[in-house]
Amino acid sequence: MATAQPFDYEGLFANNAPFTARAPNRRAKYDFAVAYPDPDTLPLDELVDSLKAALDREGKDLAYYPDPSGMPALRQLVVDKLARDRDIHVSIDDVVLTSGSGEAIGMLIQAMTNPGDVLLTEEYVYLGTLRQMRRYGAEVVSVKCDDDGIIPEALDSTLQDLKDQGKTVKFLYTIPTFQNPLGWTMTLERRRKVLDITGQYGVPIFEDDCYVDLRFEGEDVASFHSLDDSGRVLYCGSFSKIVAPGMRMGYLVAPPDVMGRAFSFKTPSGVNQFAALAIEEYLKNDMYQHIDDQNQSLRAKRDAMLASLGENFGDAATWSRPEGGLYVWMTMPEGVDLAALQEQAFNEGVGYYNGMMFSPEGNGKNMARLCFGHPTTETVSDGVAELAKILTKHGVLGG
Ligand SMILES: Cc1ncc(COP(=O)(O)O)c(C=O)c1O
Repeated sequence: MATAQPFDYEGLFANNAPFTARAPNRRAKYDFAVAYPDPDTLPLDELVDSLKAALDREGKDLAYYPDPSGMPALRQLVVDKLARDRDIHVSIDDVVLTSGSGEAIGMLIQAMTNPGDVLLTEEYVYLGTLRQMRRYGAEVVSVKCDDDGIIPEALDSTLQDLKDQGKTVKFLYTIPTFQNPLGWTMTLERRRKVLDITGQYGVPIFEDDCYVDLRFEGEDVASFHSLDDSGRVLYCGSFSKIVAPGMRMGYLVAPPDVMGRAFSFKTPSGVNQFAALAIEEYLKNDMYQHIDDQNQSLRAKRDAMLASLGENFGDAATWSRPEGGLYVWMTMPEGVDLAALQEQAFNEGVGYYNGMMFSPEGNGKNMARLCFGHPTTETVSDGVAELAKILTKHGVLGG
């Protein structure tokens, strides 16, 4: 039989559907690139037991499509947790479960952005968010930060400049706790100022609080959401950091008018009910104990990374000392190109993400995010030593 000519789809695609390569996840021997949690503290047996208990009780309901907003009992758990831990008081109607908080972020970006609108971020920002902002045509503008968070004067002058240029700013996206990738937690004073300044320009805040439970040192800082009583703060959170990213479960919290629009971009038929049942049943019994266990392990890994950076990099670099979260932000002298070396380092056994990947303006090639959540404590130490060796070999360190 003659082989048919492949069908030509050219000319049939939607204008807003760029070809997107699908690269599988790669992991180096020493993997500091991706913010994975600690695999050894994943509650696998407990999740199986919880799923079994939940299925025994309500498994036959899997014959139905789930609630479009996500399992009510898990949304109630979110409501109760937010009230208890973040002083956020909302009802389950204000909460929609999403396929990881990545979906929540995408829904809000799509609901609020026309191509060319400005979205503000911190100086370096979680690259999943940055990609989605770009994907939907936003002009992404970053605001300078220091170790206390967004610098108020910089925020004010950026907003004034944009106003003078006649540009529309749709929201400020912030990761105020254990900022990804910078690692700091924004102080209360800064949060108040940021709320105040954005308020003067009529700009909402989108608070991404997905790391807030991973605190192993210091005190929690009040959420932006709790400091506002006007509905100007939108909020998302995730179960990726306290259960597992593989479960793909997060949530968006927004007032009805915003949620109604964002919901139009939600994948239909709710979220995976299997995952929702297991998470709800597990967390209602064991949440805080599990968070404590996980954080003890993360603290040991953070300490191992800081110690190994001290031993192997000395004063050739500076780095953050996060009180929680999953990563350290390393800065090398100007002129060092960690972007150019990234692929080489990966091939030689150490994965990291260079700063440019997180910068809306493409800055930060002398910087890198090093995640310590997934490797063992020993592997963290060895991996940092290996990174130093690789950088020495390529003439960036020592000599
Ligand atoms: C700041 C931030 N927000 C959101 C996400 C998305 O996580 P998920 O979709 O797994 O909830 C991540 C993932 O690392 C993140 O770092």
